[in-house]
Amino acid sequence: MASTDARQSKVQSVPSSAGVGGPTRARINAKTLRTDRWWLTPLATFLVFFAFIVYATFRAFYGHDYYSAPYLSPFYSPCLGDCVGGASDFGRPFQAFPLSAALIVLIFPLGFRLTCYYYRKAYYRAFWLSPPACAVAEPHQKYSGETRFPLILQNVHRYFWYAAVVVGVVLTYDVVLAFRNEQDEWGHMGLGTLLMLVNVVLIWLYTLSCHSCRHAVGGRLRHFSKHPVRYKMWTFVSKLNTRHAQFAWYSLFSVALVDLYIYLLAANVFDDPRFF
Ligand code: FES
Repeated sequence: MASTDARQSKVQSVPSSAGVGGPTRARINAKTLRTDRWWLTPLATFLVFFAFIVYATFRAFYGHDYYSAPYLSPFYSPCLGDCVGGASDFGRPFQAFPLSAALIVLIFPLGFRLTCYYYRKAYYRAFWLSPPACAVAEPHQKYSGETRFPLILQNVHRYFWYAAVVVGVVLTYDVVLAFRNEQDEWGHMGLGTLLMLVNVVLIWLYTLSCHSCRHAVGGRLRHFSKHPVRYKMWTFVSKLNTRHAQFAWYSLFSVALVDLYIYLLAANVFDDPRFF
């Protein structure tokens, strides 16, 4: 009884505040004992994300040069606002929307990436230094994780995954349409078609390697033996999942590259090289 009381008083004496200065942490005055260049990864992540944010914000609000037949920029797809002729394969239900058409749809891919488990880790480290790297003290005194507003909203990631699947289908449809020429005839293939094709493959690899996808196909099951198809799907997604971080980076670059390519084509900076 006495030892139970002692244990209880020990637990109660631990303050709830967390962080590297907490009473249960080792007393180390140095910010880190690491001697390697640990800061390179968060610095590179910060620079790339920052560049992407600046570019994507500019393009999202720009509202022009997003379609060069037969190529539609992934930032503007599906084009549901007051879009230029040929860009609206799903109609213009938001024609009265006064701002750039990209702003109508961008919330879905953006929300998907912002709440992605991998991106969370990357930008928590690069932007909030929380912590900047393994075994490097973070500057914050308190830590509440993702248990409170606003970070608790990260839990909506699984719903953004469903939206991302729809976006993936639409982007795939855009690639199919990119095999038409300006006269609407099939049998065209230019560098733009190839770039869009590579981009959509990377987008699918990123979407299907998502942790939420893994749960959607294989979660909430007691016995895999009774669900062989879902077990196969789960095994496939699990293999992709190990490379999720790479797909996150590759697809980020490819989506920006395809948009830039179509932007330059639409602005008549150069012509699209044709393969056939
Ligand atoms: Fe990265 Fe879902 S965990 S997209």
